[in-house]
Amino acid sequence: MLKVIVFCSLAMTGVLLVAAGSLAQQKGDKLVPASLRCEYLVDPATVDTREPRLSWVLQDSGTRSTRQTAYQIIVASSAHNLAASRGDLWDTGKVTSNQSVQIAYQGQPLGSRTQCYWKARVWDQHGKPSAWSRPAQWTMGLLDVSDWSAQWIGDQLPSVGNVSATMLRRPFNLPAKVKRAVVYVTALGLYELHLNGRRVGDHLLAPEWTDYHTRVQYQAYDVTSWLQAGDNVIGAALGDGWYAGGIGLAQILLKKPRNIYGNHPRLLAQLEVELANGQTQRIVTDGTWRSTREGPIRSADLLDGETYDARREMPGWDKPGFDDRAWQPAEVAARIETKLVAQPNEPIRVIKELKPVALTEPKPGVFVFDLGQNMVGWCRLTAQGPTGSTVTIRHAEMLNDDGMIYTDNLRAAKEVDRYTLRGGGPEDFEPHFTYHGFRYVELTGLTAQPQLGDLTGRVFHSASPDAGMFTCSEPMLNKLWENILWTQRGNLHSVPTDCPQRDERLGWMGDILIFVQTGIFNLDMAAFFTKWVRDVRDAQADDGRYADFSPHPFGKNERFTGVPGWGDAGVLVPWRVYENYGDKRMLAEHYDSAKRWIEYIHRLNPDLIWRKGRGNDYGDWLNGDTLIQEGWPKKGGQVPKEIFATAIFAHSTDLLSRMAAVLGRTEEASKYAALFGDIKGSFSRAFVSTDGRIQGDTQAGYALALHFDLLPEELRPRAVKHLVDAVAKYQSHISTGFQTTYRMMLELTREGQNDLAYHLINNRTFPSWGYTIENGATTIWERWDGYVKGRGFQDKGMNSFNHYAIGAVGEWMYRVILGLNPDDHHPGYEHFILRPRPGGGLTWAKGAYNSIRGQIACSWKLEGNSFKLDITVPANTTATVYVPAKDVAGVAEGHQPARQAAGVEFLRIEEGAAVFKVQAGAYHFEAH
Ligand code: BGC
Repeated sequence: MLKVIVFCSLAMTGVLLVAAGSLAQQKGDKLVPASLRCEYLVDPATVDTREPRLSWVLQDSGTRSTRQTAYQIIVASSAHNLAASRGDLWDTGKVTSNQSVQIAYQGQPLGSRTQCYWKARVWDQHGKPSAWSRPAQWTMGLLDVSDWSAQWIGDQLPSVGNVSATMLRRPFNLPAKVKRAVVYVTALGLYELHLNGRRVGDHLLAPEWTDYHTRVQYQAYDVTSWLQAGDNVIGAALGDGWYAGGIGLAQILLKKPRNIYGNHPRLLAQLEVELANGQTQRIVTDGTWRSTREGPIRSADLLDGETYDARREMPGWDKPGFDDRAWQPAEVAARIETKLVAQPNEPIRVIKELKPVALTEPKPGVFVFDLGQNMVGWCRLTAQGPTGSTVTIRHAEMLNDDGMIYTDNLRAAKEVDRYTLRGGGPEDFEPHFTYHGFRYVELTGLTAQPQLGDLTGRVFHSASPDAGMFTCSEPMLNKLWENILWTQRGNLHSVPTDCPQRDERLGWMGDILIFVQTGIFNLDMAAFFTKWVRDVRDAQADDGRYADFSPHPFGKNERFTGVPGWGDAGVLVPWRVYENYGDKRMLAEHYDSAKRWIEYIHRLNPDLIWRKGRGNDYGDWLNGDTLIQEGWPKKGGQVPKEIFATAIFAHSTDLLSRMAAVLGRTEEASKYAALFGDIKGSFSRAFVSTDGRIQGDTQAGYALALHFDLLPEELRPRAVKHLVDAVAKYQSHISTGFQTTYRMMLELTREGQNDLAYHLINNRTFPSWGYTIENGATTIWERWDGYVKGRGFQDKGMNSFNHYAIGAVGEWMYRVILGLNPDDHHPGYEHFILRPRPGGGLTWAKGAYNSIRGQIACSWKLEGNSFKLDITVPANTTATVYVPAKDVAGVAEGHQPARQAAGVEFLRIEEGAAVFKVQAGAYHFEAH
């Protein structure tokens, strides 16, 4: 625990992980609650759940077996009270409990706007109290509709076609100095809020994407220091965004590319000011605001890009003294029926900047910048030229052979920004209401040769904090891990999207179903999923079908709903959130919805083979014909769709039964456990022969049956043999699709075929992850054959280079190479399993995971005949650790036999490993 762990591959994230405990060590040998969070967020500015849940991580100096035996939380209504330990809102007193996460507030009822200051202390296993944590806080949002007096406003013109952004402003006067000011703001559309000449906050694309007819998120900003006695101005720019702008597939499905939720963006803002003289003042959006569309943002669309004319800038528009007589009165909308909710997830914000690595001029006047990395966000450009000249900025993921950008795979999305220069010196441009997926940037319209430093890639996404780290002795695998992480970052823009570039960018449920665990290992996704699982419920059809993507703006009862392996994300994602974060509340809120999905499938398919009601039925997507190679079976590896559907139906039912058990609904737990058993029975009868062969004889079919535990015990070994044969038929290559590839990897390892799994991940020939990397991939491709030298690009209709689905193998890398496994009997890493399984020629691997209970670290090395394993088990957690060894006598911990070491208990020998139960602490195992 005292180690500072630095990973070479971290350069990309710029993160340095410090093992839990090292900070405490610097300040003395103390146990202390740290990293206090409320509803997964650090000091959230607006919380609208009335019993917010509190969590901390125990920081200690690495002493073994440290446990929390009791805690005390104090919540006060002022910093002063908190400092004096006066818990006027809540003082739990000493509570005997080892709970350090998900503790629901149970103090005085909390009203809107209440500021809650809190701290915690704990008692260790010797009954010794810790120091108090550093103070933390949260602030309640606006809990009742009656808290809002603001009205939805816009301008007088409907947004027909791709038109300029609306600008709104309102001067106001404050008669005295400001004691405290908070602004609550949201939009139907996207907003950027301004106060007294500056932009408020760093959120991008706020208020983000929800089903606006059902739910709109608002944000709160403390703007106390922004205001002054006397004249002030509040203003906003309003973009179309998902509400009124382009949304992927809208043209195909609704025959209209934009204005899907509405055709008129609106702003809702409420600035609440407490003055030093005791008065309060409220400035709200209403008919007194003024509006114009004559500003510089001439058009802005998420898919198409932004057009900005700097000649139209209106200096001082957001400051007092600006002449707005040419502006019109804002239009107040008739009552809009939607629910306003506090944003529960981290905002979208700039996470990183990239500098170009190359600049070319493939044709005269056409300049192409290479950012060296496929990224998502936009560019900041510095340019100079005559007034009125326009620079066109086009974005692309790949280049054509002639060095020009390749944009065919964007389909109808344009991804073009245009900047018209003000003239008269260098000027900077950065868009406002769009985002792009790209590595290459083409500039035309410049009057002078650009320099490499003129452009910066601004990477932004929902700011889920870093969680996992991975590095090992094989550079290709390190690159693969980085590519997976980049792809995840590129597809987190308030919903988990399939891709960030073409005219799609939807919250495709199948993709995240596959990727959810990898995603959680990489980034802390708890707050993100808190938001998105609500989107999933909002998109559920009336008859229980889950959508193919959530949000679902295209008629959730009519189309694109109810598909096996896509809809099931409505069961699998909440379950993973529970497993990884111990979030029982999400299960409780979601259970009935998940039940409706299972009941829907059951109703239509009483014989328990999912034949009817499979919607668009994507099956094991991208599995099959595209993968045929010379010398391979003539038919691709497509698992029959009925088998795929029935397998996932069984699994979701199994999870539903487990959810019911967690929630104490024992009868339903048994009912769905029995249903799971019955589906297994039907599956076997319909698809499995007595020698364990599964109809179709595909890798995918065996992977599913093994992974979801659908086979009678005695047939498992036979099915494994058939699986291995099915891999051999493809000359030891993958023939699985989206849904089954990572499951096959996990099952090969589980079933004693780890060498084969390592062979597949080490492959460099098509189709393999290594093949994409050897072909220059910096993100995960949608298809294995996205670009093949000599053959060029695949079908432009479906060829994204930033699609995380087949990156779900990240889960295998964490679980098998690092050995990190959550234990759903002890959710939230209260207990977990560390089982590294070396192989594939790797000589070492190391990594870490910031669990909700603290940082778990694991590092192993093969040296001659010995295996060395360093692990960190966070305070107040325990782990089952597998050390590869023939017998326990050959395993040491520190300088003594492992079975005698403090905090270590030998359990058994299992499959070539000595298994120990380990208490909190840092350990060094060696096996010979
Ligand atoms: C998306 C996929 C998605 C699929 C459904 C595609 O167009 O990009 O990732 O899951 O449609 O089959």
